Amino acid sequence: MRIGIYGGTFNPPHIGHVHAAEEAGRVLGLDQLLIVPDNVPPHKTLPEGSPDNAQRLEMARLAFGAVPCAEVSDLELRREGKSYSVDTVRAVHAQYPDAELWLLMGSDMLNILHLWHEPETLMRLANIGTFARDSAGEQEIFARMLPLLEHNFHATIRRIPMEAKKAASSEIRAQLARGGGAELLSPPVWGYIQREHLYGTKADLRHLPLGALRSVALSYLKCTRMAHVLGTEQEAVRLARRCGIDETEARTAALLHDCTKKCSREEQLALCERYGLTADKVECSQDQLLHAKTGAALARDVFGVSDAVYGAIRWHTTGKADMTPLEKVIYVADCIEPSRKYPGVETLRRATEESLDKGLELCLQRTVERMEKLGSPVHERTLEALHFLKGQR
Ligand SMILES: [Fe+2]
Ligand SMILES: [Fe+2]
Repeated sequence: MRIGIYGGTFNPPHIGHVHAAEEAGRVLGLDQLLIVPDNVPPHKTLPEGSPDNAQRLEMARLAFGAVPCAEVSDLELRREGKSYSVDTVRAVHAQYPDAELWLLMGSDMLNILHLWHEPETLMRLANIGTFARDSAGEQEIFARMLPLLEHNFHATIRRIPMEAKKAASSEIRAQLARGGGAELLSPPVWGYIQREHLYGTKADLRHLPLGALRSVALSYLKCTRMAHVLGTEQEAVRLARRCGIDETEARTAALLHDCTKKCSREEQLALCERYGLTADKVECSQDQLLHAKTGAALARDVFGVSDAVYGAIRWHTTGKADMTPLEKVIYVADCIEPSRKYPGVETLRRATEESLDKGLELCLQRTVERMEKLGSPVHERTLEALHFLKGQR
């Protein structure tokens, strides 16, 4: 097994970092790539709007989530006191004693690698993968340092060819403060920065244009859920056009419908407390139901969504009797969006083509059947929704 270790401040992680991680994975044939944000000591005076360690960790998760085999590690953030690369390499080696380790770094680091803490141990336990941009200065570094490091430390060093650098994190921070920089960051990272008002950004979250809202909405999600939410938006807008309802409201509700889905039970309960929500008996036994309630409250509080959008998020898991057209659209879009692959989804899609109500009825029916199969109680709102639809026929 081959494991790469890619450390850095990642302040913020940008598309250059993501490209470097992808190239390292490909060139070195890595099975796993650990992304390790450095510890920035709390006593260090940072400029206003600087992210704390937890925020840098979250940005790294959002940035590298789509890189195959990448996994963000809080190994260095958890370590007290001064942090050395050799300690990280040692910790990874202890966890994977049979793995071949590759420590990744910029070519400029080769100049001083022999001065790092315990260089012998470092280069014994890990090979060095160095990003090479083929500049004249870099060629000089390789010519001078490679023979020295190989001779003195028996180092194994491999170059990872890269295109010229697009921008450094310091330039991106400056651009962000001026309202730019979006094209140098992945959308969820840019969205996270806006939502947390990092680096001097001043987004008004209650009046975001749709494109910005999409990026901010993605920043609330696990990377594995992003395709689902974008798919729900795509399906919701298609249904909204067909039913003649407001497209922007459909997009907004779809983008935010799962905004608290990744929260733990404790976080869900904290949100309930914050927004004065009570969880009913079924919601208490089924964690996944709570995110509709907390998500709707968060969307209203943070983004100032309309009552119509609030309702669509609020009822997207259980449904209810007499749903509005927007509530129906979001409920159905959530069930049948293009990335859904479960058995029977085509039947639900065909029914929705016949009519939105027909699709809704089958989607609700499927929820009831799934709950019964799992031996879980069916929410009374779901039964009321079905009863109401049948009564209308
Ligand atoms: Fe959901
Ligand atoms: Fe969903």
